[in-house]
Amino acid sequence: MNETKTLVFSLFGADHFVDEFVKGQGFKKGHLVRRTFPDGESYLRYETPLKGCEIIIIDTLNHPDDKIVPLIFAADTAKDLGATKVGLIVPYLAYMRQDARFHPGEAITSISFAKLISKAFDWMITVDPHLHRHPTLDDIYTIPTQVVPAAPLISSWIRANIEKPLLIGPDAESGQWVSQIAEPLKIPYTVLEKVRLGDYDVKVSIPTLADFPNHTPVLVDDIISTGQTMLAAIHHLKALGAKAAVCIGVHPIFAGITTQTLIDAGAMRVVSCNTIPHDSNQVDLSQSLIQAARNYVNI
Ligand code: R5P
Repeated sequence: MNETKTLVFSLFGADHFVDEFVKGQGFKKGHLVRRTFPDGESYLRYETPLKGCEIIIIDTLNHPDDKIVPLIFAADTAKDLGATKVGLIVPYLAYMRQDARFHPGEAITSISFAKLISKAFDWMITVDPHLHRHPTLDDIYTIPTQVVPAAPLISSWIRANIEKPLLIGPDAESGQWVSQIAEPLKIPYTVLEKVRLGDYDVKVSIPTLADFPNHTPVLVDDIISTGQTMLAAIHHLKALGAKAAVCIGVHPIFAGITTQTLIDAGAMRVVSCNTIPHDSNQVDLSQSLIQAARNYVNI
């Protein structure tokens, strides 16, 4: 094991992950300075020598457009400075939801973005990407990729915190997470039907809850973005007279809403994974990411 050769960097607020990587794990923290020139262009400088080193850049990609250009420059510069391999750990992978051309002339940004990242990096690890029309990341990424599942950790959180949970997925796509979380706990689960009429207009159908009296509804989705999906589900559960729901999102984007928005609508509690820093973070993915990274680095 060479303790000094795998350097880990963060560009945009992934310091909490970098700190875990360097705690006796054999990874070394690298220093990368980034600032923005008055005209909005990015300045980058590696303060840690890279020649002959493998490096990992950890960055989560909520608000991706501000982050992508510096990220690509950071990967390119690392290779230019002699890094032997440049890996990307992206706890929240952006640009997965526009995965088809729904209207003529639209960009399929999942594919364009995958090409960009595949050119810049040697490998990539992420947590629960939004795989819907692309069955796997290999469909669109040409570099080796690994998906770290949040389900085992969410199951553990539910086991420790909720009595008599009834897991509810708000739409067909959430079925994959809901079943993975429910099965090890041997708890009941159901998946709703969702119709998204627009960015801020979501309707869901809730089946009868008569078979599950006294259960606590636990709504689980991969992404909480505008929160409209969670809000529609909370409203329907309230209308059915269910107990207040616990809302769990793997990736807490919270675009234009807050945790309080869901609490005010009737949620008992809002919980997320720390793939994006947020006040709802309760489930820590660090150790799973470290374990996954060991598959790619010489450590
Ligand atoms: C969509 O298919 C996803 O699984 C989520 O349900 C969706 O991204 C949530 O978005 P929002 O919070 O904007 O309703």
